[in-house]
Amino acid sequence: MSLPKHIAIIMDGNGRWAQLKRRPRTFGHIKGTRVAKKIITDCSRRGIKNLTLYAFSTENWFRPQEEVSLLMTILRRYLRRETDNLIKENIRFSIIGDITRIPTDVREAIAKSMEATAHCTGLNLVFALSYGSRQEITDSVREIAQRVARGELAVQDIDESIINSALSTYPTPDPDLIIRTSGEQRLSNFLLWQAAYSEFYFTDVLWPNFTEHDLDQALQVFASRQRRYGRVLTNDKVEKLSN
Ligand code: FPP
Repeated sequence: MSLPKHIAIIMDGNGRWAQLKRRPRTFGHIKGTRVAKKIITDCSRRGIKNLTLYAFSTENWFRPQEEVSLLMTILRRYLRRETDNLIKENIRFSIIGDITRIPTDVREAIAKSMEATAHCTGLNLVFALSYGSRQEITDSVREIAQRVARGELAVQDIDESIINSALSTYPTPDPDLIIRTSGEQRLSNFLLWQAAYSEFYFTDVLWPNFTEHDLDQALQVFASRQRRYGRVLTNDKVEKLSN
């Protein structure tokens, strides 16, 4: 079975799950974190090389203060408690997003986890935190323009690979498979450039109910799709293109 080299997940539906149980939205985030922990290990043990989780978007800052604060506490706690486990599982941790908006204690926990797992060679685990793809693209355009202004880069030399390497996801390969839970079928400002040829898997399952079985289903659907990258190709050529 062909496995995606990079899975990106929009973990949606925590609030609705909690509401259905007549509990506060934050209860859904706590359960959602447990599910994320499990799925990270499942991906790692299945030999997935890269996993990006959309944990907090730039738009999420507009949520009620109490919810934002709880999400930050969850992240800090997760990193403090889980880093040893990540090392044990040979998982390297990093983040993408606007770190300057993240509270100092969470930033410290992120830095510590990144440093402690820097030597790990298994799964490359990326949390998208305070992340928005339009902001990321805007930042990369600004960086490229500055290089041009300094005379380090000629305008005619700007190509896709220059843009690619100016994005925060570099050098992680583009996601082969993007999963979104909870029935919503949109990207919500997630990896817009990087998703150009991604396969999408949408499921009605709310993130706190997402299991290893749902992951398996997504992987099976992915394996059954023929990726043509806009071309007409024979199977062996498709295989080669994706390698
Ligand atoms: C979307 O559900 C989920 C989020 C905005 C936060 C996702 C964060 C977690 C699952 C915790 C992640 C933590 C780690 C450590 C990976 P929603 O609140 O938008 O749900 P709704 O659409 O039903 O309201």
